[in-house]
This record gives sequence, structure tokens and C-alpha cells, in this order.
Amino acid sequence: MARKLFIAANWKMNLSAQQGTALASELAGSVSSDWSVEVAVCPPNVYLSIVHTALEGSAIRLGAQNVYYESNGAFTGQVSPAMLVDIGCDYVIIGHSETRHTIEPHEGDALINRKVLAALAGNLKVILCIGETLDQREQEHTESVLNAQLSAGLANVDSNLAQKITIAYEPVWAIGTGKTATTEQAQQAHAFVRARLGELLSPAAAERICIQYGGSVKPNNAAELLAQPDVDGALVGGAGLKADVFLEIIKAGL
Ligand code: PGA
Repeated sequence: MARKLFIAANWKMNLSAQQGTALASELAGSVSSDWSVEVAVCPPNVYLSIVHTALEGSAIRLGAQNVYYESNGAFTGQVSPAMLVDIGCDYVIIGHSETRHTIEPHEGDALINRKVLAALAGNLKVILCIGETLDQREQEHTESVLNAQLSAGLANVDSNLAQKITIAYEPVWAIGTGKTATTEQAQQAHAFVRARLGELLSPAAAERICIQYGGSVKPNNAAELLAQPDVDGALVGGAGLKADVFLEIIKAGL
């Protein structure tokens, strides 16, 4: 079964309400529902509602950048899966490298797994991010890190939910640095991830799951990355903040 490419923009903590609305409107008017690529944007939580309105009637899906695992209650500053669904989200990013390594307190695999399980139970599609640091790559620990993050992140996930899971392979050393993994490095990591998904879930699930590449994806490297057999899309940061640049990346997948 051929996998549909999935290209998502992670806006991170960027743009004003007005800029976010303008970006979403421009994308909504440019991305055709006939295109063979699934497209999503993931704005900051405070803009989800206005971006949802701007995307209305378009083919573009809405995603959030994180979620909490409880459904409601005294959890100051958090949002639940049900709240994200309520506001129109289809997707949520979980385990992004910035939440694992940059923003304090750092999120560990056990917390990430609780979020994955809660999001799936709450009917969200999950983009689970995994990736090694430069140090880990240099010490040849890439596969063991990916394996650990994948097995812990997907612990107790039912293989029947494969269609709701996307894995984003994002080498930490390539995020926001302008350094991209070579196509060979990306394909090798993606093939490893797919093989592990086969063991953790099922071979059929592994074939269905979209594995995005992330880390300095730009118009000039997107086509080559997306042409790799196990690269099924991209999670785009900086290059997703301008409509024309993001559209070029999407078109590289058509
Ligand atoms: P970048 O970010 O494209 O700016 O490197 C990617 C990401 O963090 O998802």
C-alpha cells in the first residue's frame, strides 16, 4: 500500500495572531484538495482557534504542538486531548526535541508515552518525534537512541491504531541549524525505524505508518529527501513560516 506523503509545519513559538491568520489564509487558498499530499499546520495553542477559522473549507489540517495526558482538572497551563479536538485539531506533536532537550523541565520517554496514549484515546492523530543528538550520532548510538525512544514512546499502543500514528525522525543536530541529514543518513534511519515499528506493532502497521523527516528541510533539499523510499513526508520548522517557502516544499512532494 502506497503511503500518502504528509508535510506539516511546526510554527513553534512564532508569529503574531495577524501573521498566523495571514499565513493560514494564504496556504488555505493555495493548497488544493486534489493534491496527493496531506498538509497540516501546528500553530501555538493561543492561535489554534483563529487558524482553524482561517483554514475552514480547505484541505489543510490543524495540529497542536503538545498536549497533557489528563482529560480535565487542576493542571494549570495544560490542555487536554479533548480540548484540542474541540477546537478543531486533528493532530498533535508529541516528544519534539525541544520539549525533550531545551524547554525545562525536559520531557522523558515515560511522560511522552502517557501523552501518546492519552492523545490516541482522545481521538487525536499523533506525530511522535524521535532523534539523536550530535554526540549520540558521533558515538554511533543513533540506532539505540531511536530504538529506545520508539519502544518507550509507543509502549502499550495498539497496532490497530497505526493509521493515527506518524513518526517524525528529527536528528537534533539538524533542527534549526541549517544542517540537514544527507539523504543516505535519512533513509538509513527511516528504514531502521520502519523495521523496529514492524517488531513493536506489526509488519502491516509499519507499512502504513508515515515517517516524516525533520531538521532544516528547505525547498532546495525537500525533493531529494522526499524521494527516499522510507521518507514519507516532512516536519518543517523555520521554512514553514512563510507561505511561498512552505508551498515550495509541499510541491516538492507532488
Ligand atoms: P527546522 O525545525 O525545520 O527549523 O530545522 C524542524 C522541527 O523542529 O520540527
